[in-house]
Amino acid sequence: MTVSLLVDNIGELVTNDPAIGAGSRLGLLEDAAVVVEGHRVAWVGRRAEAPAADASVDAAGAAVVPGFVDSHSHLVFAGDRAQEFAARMEGRAYSAGGIQTTVAATRHASDDELAANLARLVAEMARQGTTTVEVKSGYGLTVADETRSLAIAAQVTSETTYLGAHVVPPEYADEPAAYVDLVTGPMLTGAAPHARWVDVFCERGAFDAEQARAVLRAGQAAGLQARIHANQLGHGPGIEVACDVGAASADHCTFATADDLANLAAAGVAATLLPGVEFSTRSPYPDARAMLAAGVTVALATDCNPGSSYTSSMPLCIALAVREMAMTPAEALWSATAGGAAALRRDDVGRLAVGAPADFMVLAAPSYVHLAYRPGVPLVGAVYRRGQRLS
Ligand code: NIG
Ligand code: FE
Repeated sequence: MTVSLLVDNIGELVTNDPAIGAGSRLGLLEDAAVVVEGHRVAWVGRRAEAPAADASVDAAGAAVVPGFVDSHSHLVFAGDRAQEFAARMEGRAYSAGGIQTTVAATRHASDDELAANLARLVAEMARQGTTTVEVKSGYGLTVADETRSLAIAAQVTSETTYLGAHVVPPEYADEPAAYVDLVTGPMLTGAAPHARWVDVFCERGAFDAEQARAVLRAGQAAGLQARIHANQLGHGPGIEVACDVGAASADHCTFATADDLANLAAAGVAATLLPGVEFSTRSPYPDARAMLAAGVTVALATDCNPGSSYTSSMPLCIALAVREMAMTPAEALWSATAGGAAALRRDDVGRLAVGAPADFMVLAAPSYVHLAYRPGVPLVGAVYRRGQRLS
């Protein structure tokens, strides 16, 4: 028998269902309740009309919002780069080269060490309200290390991304073309059974447009869907490549032209903004307002990785998006939930509607606005994933 749970006395419910509430994409409902049956949402509405359930919890007038969808992270790695961060804060610039430090540490780590570090970070994310997470490989860069990275990632999420084309590893420094052949050949063969997505770091110091196209096209031919690291460190061709190959998302987009934004909107490619990177590398933020004005679907994600953004906190990203990128609190929350879902081509998660997975959190606050208004404060209370309480 399926047990039902009534989450009662919700002061402000964010559903992301535009059919609910007036005029906001957030689908806001006051004095609300939600009924969960098994893994799914069975009922959403005014609490006065809520049906009976087997058990109930009292939200005590707090806000309830959908679980965060963190659509960009690199969690399979060993070691950290605290010294690199400290040096950066003394003025050294961030560069793609730092990735090699983590590649060396990751290659030396055992499967158990990598799995334990991944589990630690996923648990950290869950405590901060993340109920869906995308996890990339990209710190192995050999056939065996990329394959095991993805096999380990697949233990915790179905949103796994093959990023063999993160940088050219040192042993291929003199023959990058041979490395691209490896990435599009034997490494792809090893990775594909464990991956849903293929990604490439299209940037000076990493892979150029032609190489990026080859990597994404090969991944697509092997049944993977494309996403890309684009226009992070400078103007470049990454966004164009994303639109050409029909990627789900172009991520970073820190340096984008008006044409780039028009192309993203026309091609239906989401822009995933990663403000933890600009914060942690002390760089200029992407122009979220221009993207929204151009009609681009904007997602927010952590990019959690030991180099450019070692935060697992979606609430921090929301606060940065509001304070530093002039997104409204409503836009930022939508981008951190439904926007992330769009960037992963998911229509089940990122919203609270009948039939959707019961992924949500109770905030220690009367309104979702507090996520940006009270930065750094642990406002995430009970977190439910697939109807089960996580924390
Ligand atoms: O998304 N841009 C490439 N990859 C990561 C950084 C990885 C690292 O520095 O270790 C990013 O920022
Ligand atoms: Fe990244």
